[in-house]
Amino acid sequence: MIYKSAPFPINRPRRLRQADWMRDLVRENQVSVQDLIWPIFVRDGNGVVEPVKSMPGVNRYSIDKAVEAAIQASDAGIPVVALFPYTDPSVKTPDAAEAFNPENLVNRATRAIKAAVPDIGVMLDVALDPYNSDGHDGLVRDGVVLNDETLLVLERQALVQAESGADILGPSDMMDGRIAIIRTALEQNDFQNVAIMAYSSKFASAFYGPFRDAVGSGGALTGDKATYQIDPANSDEALRMVARDLEEGADMVMVKPGMPYLDMCRRVKDAFAVPTFAYQVSGEYAMIEAAGQNGWIDRDRAMMESLLGFKRAGCDGVLTYYALEVAQKIETFI
Ligand code: PBG
Repeated sequence: MIYKSAPFPINRPRRLRQADWMRDLVRENQVSVQDLIWPIFVRDGNGVVEPVKSMPGVNRYSIDKAVEAAIQASDAGIPVVALFPYTDPSVKTPDAAEAFNPENLVNRATRAIKAAVPDIGVMLDVALDPYNSDGHDGLVRDGVVLNDETLLVLERQALVQAESGADILGPSDMMDGRIAIIRTALEQNDFQNVAIMAYSSKFASAFYGPFRDAVGSGGALTGDKATYQIDPANSDEALRMVARDLEEGADMVMVKPGMPYLDMCRRVKDAFAVPTFAYQVSGEYAMIEAAGQNGWIDRDRAMMESLLGFKRAGCDGVLTYYALEVAQKIETFI
């Protein structure tokens, strides 16, 4: 504590909680639209808006609809959309070649969005899971997720994404050495301004379940991701991953999942003082929605409180499926 407070009744903390105006005055943190990154799921087709069953309120959009969504996001003041593909199973292969196809869903969607709304940032995931018939983030041989062979595919994927106009690359694969190889490739190919937001503090989590449903990678996945994602028990290790990724050329780092790992948000921000983001992942979203639908919690308040928690924990921003709704409603919340 910085100071020793006066004893009661000289000190009455409730004085500062007595009315809205007073609480407004002394509030330490707030969620603003500029803090929000909106993940959007993209699929094939035209005019398609397809609900994701395990994420009520979240849809998969065909590219034309994703463009409309990006326009809405931009109008609401959201700085960045993050695109994730629902890849048709017929295009998934063991070599994940669709990952570096310039005409794949996210690359086409990026070009369409940048053409229609040049002022919004587009972020793309660098990882193989949407394209790999094994459902893993890396190439698999004899049941082993290969590190160095995967790096070569990630490098090609990243370059094609940069060529398509992606502004931020988010390596989410957790292979060793990925940030260095991607940063070097970007520098050598005239993409100096493409930023990297590294999924550095990324845990092997049960909270990704609904996402794997949304991108259709869950069915394909054999085993778990524990040989590359971080053990949920480890906090020092996650800090070392942040240090490593920053040394290799990451501009921003991420903690993922968010709410069960708020300690990591605070540790990362305090230790490195770099732009720090949390990903409020699909399972966190699904929990709030499910409890809200059952009438067990006040869904709107839980949504805002969960986002405020990230700010309090030191995050500069949050990837959240709530982004558009919050951006459109924020005035009424604050
Ligand atoms: C892919 C990736 C995942 C998420 C973002 N990128 C899933 C995973 O690692 O299995 C999860 C996002 C969410 O759950 O909302 N590497």
